[in-house]
Amino acid sequence: MVSYDIDNISPDMSFLEMMDVLNEELTSQGLDPVAFDHDCREGICGSCSMFINGEAHGPDRLVTTCQLHMRKFQDGDTIFIEPFRSNTFPVIKDLVVDRSSFDRIQHAGGFISINTSGNTQDANSIPIDKNKADKAFDAATCIGCGACVATCKNSSAMLFVSAKVSQFSLLPQGQVEANERVLNMVKQMDDEGFGNCTNTGACEVECPKGISLENIARMNRDYLKAKFSS
Ligand code: SF4
Ligand code: FES
Repeated sequence: MVSYDIDNISPDMSFLEMMDVLNEELTSQGLDPVAFDHDCREGICGSCSMFINGEAHGPDRLVTTCQLHMRKFQDGDTIFIEPFRSNTFPVIKDLVVDRSSFDRIQHAGGFISINTSGNTQDANSIPIDKNKADKAFDAATCIGCGACVATCKNSSAMLFVSAKVSQFSLLPQGQVEANERVLNMVKQMDDEGFGNCTNTGACEVECPKGISLENIARMNRDYLKAKFSS
């Protein structure tokens, strides 16, 4: 751990703006800036992942680090910032970790193969139960940040993978490849070395998008069904 003192931090600044101020000061002193991931700064891309005072994305609930504000801290506070810690997310530099294991899980089945040659049925012409559509939409809000993995004592990726499986398994469009998808994505998750779920629920608490544990239960059901029909 390295300590830095910084002044002139407004309570209205976002956490990443505070990091920008720090890095400007370091750069002007000819020092290396602290490396951290960021992109959208709108809570959408999931790249601004870090542990802040021992919590993924910091002390606020349902927000990413880029949407966390300095008003959540007191003037004079020492803030401890660490990279996400998991063997499956190797540290590249400072706060930047390699989350390509998530990409490989997505490549294993997190998509729908649809023929778009001209005979495609308009998706809006397929009736979908409102409750299911809402749950699919909720699952689709997962931004792949990895807070669930970094928070879990087992480094389990079940919340992430179950969100990516559920967003399709609840919809008619997702049924064609449903069995193949859940089997392949779970296999890739295991091959990457993520741990299993022991129902602690810390992932759900720290998830900035409020992804529900219900998705894990659904994925387990889908997985069993796929195993028995294969
Ligand atoms: S389930 Fe939540 S914590 Fe996990 S990757 Fe998705 S958004 Fe991030
Ligand atoms: S920078 Fe994109 S979610 Fe924070």
